[in-house]
Amino acid sequence: MIIVKTIIDLSHDLIKENITKQDVVLDLTVGNGNDTLFLVKIAKFVYGFDIQTAAINQAKLKLVNYDNYRLINTSHEYFLDYINKDFKAAIFNLGYLPGGNKLITTMAGSTLLTLKLVLENIKVTGICVLVVYPGHYEGKRESQALLNYSAKLDQLKYQVIKYEFINQINNPPYLLAIRRLQ
Ligand SMILES: C[S@@+](CC[C@H](N)C(=O)[O-])C[C@H]1O[C@@H](n2cnc3c(N)ncnc32)[C@H](O)[C@@H]1O
Repeated sequence: MIIVKTIIDLSHDLIKENITKQDVVLDLTVGNGNDTLFLVKIAKFVYGFDIQTAAINQAKLKLVNYDNYRLINTSHEYFLDYINKDFKAAIFNLGYLPGGNKLITTMAGSTLLTLKLVLENIKVTGICVLVVYPGHYEGKRESQALLNYSAKLDQLKYQVIKYEFINQINNPPYLLAIRRLQ
């Protein structure tokens, strides 16, 4: 059977291929908890971050059958205050909460700062995936900042891949995947 995959499915595939049940992972934008739910099933432990209390509460409802996670109601650039530096994968699903306040969205400055901390601290061979939404104002700024930054990463230290649906209209979301090599 052929399964047509969304950009989110592709981001999940990349994480799944790169971790085992022994690994700790980070969900840096918990939102409604769909990514967190996917991660708790395949990882040893998930740390999730979101600035919206409503999002954290919504996500907890999805996670009632699991206990291998901690959700933290703070901005993701503070993630190192809450974890040991032994994580193997991280996911950012950027932008605003679907169905929520569109003004509460990830911002280029804090996303970039957090990404840098993730890449400095993730385990060697670990992977960070970002689903990027350039179709709205803040998202476009964020997308440009992420592309500028990641395209200049030292190729001996990081491998950067961009996956995009090049025939879709209206600035569709795309995926950045960054693997730490050394
Ligand atoms: C597209 S939604 C995430 C979707 C989610 N991963 C899911 O599976 O439902 C983006 C989320 O990022 C959160 N967010 C925005 N800025 C943030 C920040 N600085 N730190 C952590 N979360 C942030 C928003 O509150 C929103 O819930």
